[in-house]
Amino acid sequence: MRQPPFDRTAAGHQLLERVQVLGRHSDAAGHYTRTFLTPAHQAAARQIAHWMREAGMEVRVDAVGNVIGRYAAAAETRDGPGIAPSPNSVLLLGSHFDSVRNGGKYDGVLGILVPIACVAQLNQAGERLDYAIEVAAFSDEEGARFQTSFLSSRAMIGRFDPAVLDRRDADGVSFVDAMRAAGLDPAKIGEAGIDTTSLAAYVEVHIEQGPVLLKEGRPLGVVTSIAGGSRHLFTVRGEAGHAGTVPMPMRRDALAAAAEMVLAIESRCSAGGSLVGTVGILKVRDGTGNVIPGEVEFTCDIRAADDVARKAAEADVIAKLEAIAARRGVELARKPTHEVRAAPCAAWLQDRLAASVERVLSRDGNRRAARRLPSGAGHDAMVMAEVTDAGMLFVRCGAGGVSHNPAETVSEEDAGAAAEALLDFLRVFEPRSSR
Ligand code: GLV
Ligand code: MN
Ligand code: MN
Repeated sequence: MRQPPFDRTAAGHQLLERVQVLGRHSDAAGHYTRTFLTPAHQAAARQIAHWMREAGMEVRVDAVGNVIGRYAAAAETRDGPGIAPSPNSVLLLGSHFDSVRNGGKYDGVLGILVPIACVAQLNQAGERLDYAIEVAAFSDEEGARFQTSFLSSRAMIGRFDPAVLDRRDADGVSFVDAMRAAGLDPAKIGEAGIDTTSLAAYVEVHIEQGPVLLKEGRPLGVVTSIAGGSRHLFTVRGEAGHAGTVPMPMRRDALAAAAEMVLAIESRCSAGGSLVGTVGILKVRDGTGNVIPGEVEFTCDIRAADDVARKAAEADVIAKLEAIAARRGVELARKPTHEVRAAPCAAWLQDRLAASVERVLSRDGNRRAARRLPSGAGHDAMVMAEVTDAGMLFVRCGAGGVSHNPAETVSEEDAGAAAEALLDFLRVFEPRSSR
């Protein structure tokens, strides 16, 4: 079949328009925050479902609010539905539509909109492929509301962590009540699990969230591996007291202890390589200007491309923090909240994505081999890599490469190039049983 030419400019323009439309569905007036199952999150889900249907997909919403569009394979449309999904018959594409607080509008969303644009293009041309495409809009990857991570991709592969059911958000709303308010039944979370043997692969398009492609003048890149991560919630308990009366040597100040701990984390995680460590939340309980802090809670996020280096840093950090607590006479409690191993991207998917990137960029006279680079950020692809081969296509980040920041941006040209490269990849993709 002759394929109609791809209008990269029009595709890029529409993609950025849609990013803005979704960006207006925010929990907060004045900035972009969209967290699991809030009214804004549900409105974004409805908008995504609408675009999926418009692109020619059948849409379902699963038990954790993932929106999944299906573009049937040629054989299904010929022989009719009802045939059981065969192994390796579905290529799953996707990313998440929740955000961090006051985040960037492209993080996650781009990886939903680009595949929808590709399916729309196939559908308009009446093209069906030898495999089915499913586009997953994951409802919770960042986990900003309930301090979860990869909640919805984990549910999709049947590995939802039931401990999450006991969580509460910052307003005290329980996870279970939030689900019920959104019309979802917590007892049915297991039904979100898919038959993972039907997957031929998982591919995620994502903004790079860093400066590498920008610095090198490259619109697209192919991900080689995704760094693993551990998170803990620490609670330091000292003794609250009067800020004016307790002499300095007699204090057990929880915040001063936590401050020393934050610096210990920074110091240990500055050892080099891909190792990084971050304290992103620090809360003083009942904090008041004239009270010695009695209790402080903080998070610690440690990541590295190499799991051995990460686990070593994690163990050292815990030991250092315990030593600080003992020296200062405060108590330290620790709760692990998240752990994900580093995930290599499948070599065959890297090669195919690189070939598509090279074909598409060569149309602009660019003959360089596709840039391959690791991802320091976490992605749903890490979870999907537990059950199928995973690949990722990175899109250049503008504005100096910032992300998790409202200044985050992607250009129309680069978004259009990503859609053109993914479409090229889809047209040549052949499922293979590599597992
Ligand atoms: C997701 O954005 C993460 O890497 O934390
Ligand atoms: Mn993110
Ligand atoms: Mn993301």
